[in-house]
Amino acid sequence: MCGIVGYTGFQDSYNIVINGLRRLEYRGYDSAGIVVEDEQKKLHTAKTKGKVEDLVKISGDLKGISHTGMGHTRWATHGVPSDNNSHPHSSNNQKIALVHNGIIENYDTIKTMLLGKGYTFKSETDTEVLVNLIEYFMANDSSLDFPTAVRYSLNEVYGAYAITVMHEDYPGVLVVGRLGSPLAIGLGDGEFFIASDASPFVEFTKEAVYLEEGHMATISLENGVDIRNIKDNVKITPAIQELKLSLEQIEKGGYEHFMLKEIFEQPKSIHDTLRGRLLVDEGIIKMAGIWDNLERLTKAERIIIIACGTSWHAGLIGEYLIEEFARIPVEVEYASEFRYRNPIVTNKDVVIAISQSGETADTMAAIKLAKEKGAFVFGICNVVDSSISRFTDAGSYTHAGPEIGVASTKAFTSQLTILSLIALKLGKHNGNLSNVEFMRLITELDALPKKVEEVLSTTHDLVKEIAKDFVDAQNFLYLGRGYNFPAALEGALKLKEISYIHAEGYPAAEMKHGPIALIDENMPIVIIAPKQGHYDKVVSNVQEIKARKGKVIALVNKGDVQVANLADYVIEFPETSECFSPIIASVPLQLLAYYIAVKRGANVDQPRNLAKSVTVE
Ligand code: F6R
Repeated sequence: MCGIVGYTGFQDSYNIVINGLRRLEYRGYDSAGIVVEDEQKKLHTAKTKGKVEDLVKISGDLKGISHTGMGHTRWATHGVPSDNNSHPHSSNNQKIALVHNGIIENYDTIKTMLLGKGYTFKSETDTEVLVNLIEYFMANDSSLDFPTAVRYSLNEVYGAYAITVMHEDYPGVLVVGRLGSPLAIGLGDGEFFIASDASPFVEFTKEAVYLEEGHMATISLENGVDIRNIKDNVKITPAIQELKLSLEQIEKGGYEHFMLKEIFEQPKSIHDTLRGRLLVDEGIIKMAGIWDNLERLTKAERIIIIACGTSWHAGLIGEYLIEEFARIPVEVEYASEFRYRNPIVTNKDVVIAISQSGETADTMAAIKLAKEKGAFVFGICNVVDSSISRFTDAGSYTHAGPEIGVASTKAFTSQLTILSLIALKLGKHNGNLSNVEFMRLITELDALPKKVEEVLSTTHDLVKEIAKDFVDAQNFLYLGRGYNFPAALEGALKLKEISYIHAEGYPAAEMKHGPIALIDENMPIVIIAPKQGHYDKVVSNVQEIKARKGKVIALVNKGDVQVANLADYVIEFPETSECFSPIIASVPLQLLAYYIAVKRGANVDQPRNLAKSVTVE
């Protein structure tokens, strides 16, 4: 949801900002902009509707003229994508420039006040209101310095923001603030970096400060990083973190798209999720976050899983896993619904919040609500030191590595892997799983990275071929039963978000309660049919589809005959227990969505209207 980059130091700020924006483009890509301060301390802005590469085309003259600058890549909230609505926004006197990620909810009231004072506005954005409010404070009190005016302004607004501000009269100074949207400050040797995540500066420094909620910082080479509480100006000692991210991890590594790279990384990412936790030889699962809170978790009267999108699909599979193995009742909720519906939550409940980015605004708000009601909140996040990972009572990282493609792939299979570990660990501790059953299951879990590697190599070319036949499809149905019903939902989401083909996921047995009416010779139906679970019933579902001339793409276990004989297309995947089968079956579904989208000419890494990290509600 918008990306921010800032720099002050000895290098050309244009290069740092533009390269940083390229790395943050996954956060939003409908417009981009940059402002740099030249030798005469003048601010120069370039901005445009479109991608960072469109910005590069119009901003060449800003190259090599400055050592302080900032930029923005936008995902529109207030105002359509346009040149005028792009950031940075300037104040009426042209002295102040501001970039913003988030939403200023009371911008209308402030705008009315400023209009009354004679201020004019060029854009429809909430951001332009904030930059003018800073100017207004400074104009009305000449004793007010720039950081104080920013602080006063931030105390007037509510909503969510991460901002960076520059002022012509304060050369080399960047003022940043944060409430609800992330912001990291990179501490280099004679230089400082600012970014929505650490990826823009990872090759320059391994030291960073993640600005906390309600904090702001004034950054300059002269005075370093001065962090204050926005509310009362109390000085804060920065907590410096060591970055684990490497440049290699955030580059494409020879793949055409990040999404394909991330699909192929899954044997490793699943292995990394299991590493150090699953000790098959010793017959144990070792997870500090679980171990330290084992009683709280196993004695929970109920577990409520909250998440959005793909993470919510992982949560649905988590429900099946935890109820089957730990025998604790589980409910799964969309965070966006949970936060607004006055749910019944008590201190006997445990909430598991799942989020790849760890920044999703709806999930964060749902966690706050659950905590207020006394629940213990356990987080499952991929991004280390993200807001959710810091706000929850305890948690486990998925360790899938940075996921850049907007469509989630490896984060999903790592979420399923960690949920499997949790369910088995709780089940063992509860006494619901015998030693023999536990050993059988952890041995299978341990084999997953190899099986995912196998499914990638055996299905990649085949799926690529199959995709050619569905480039012009208008609709798709995805069906599965048991553990593979949420896998069907996820398969459908992958296809619709990157190819823009309408797709629905259903439990296979629900077909006859409505969706069967859609089936004719033009309807492709993907059906996940592993041998375990309800295989016979799925065979009947496939027969029902074929009787109505639907085109069946069946995902079956190696050597399957019954479904394979009925299906138009067959994709085989290695056998495992039903509970782990979504981890393997999801891989060819990701490839199918990917190749259909690529063949339709879609931008798979940056699908229209989407953003990787949804920090607004
Ligand atoms: C789909 C996708 C989204 C996210 C959702 C939640 O491919 O990526 O549906 O899963 O926006 O995001 P996180 O997991 O970061 O909270």
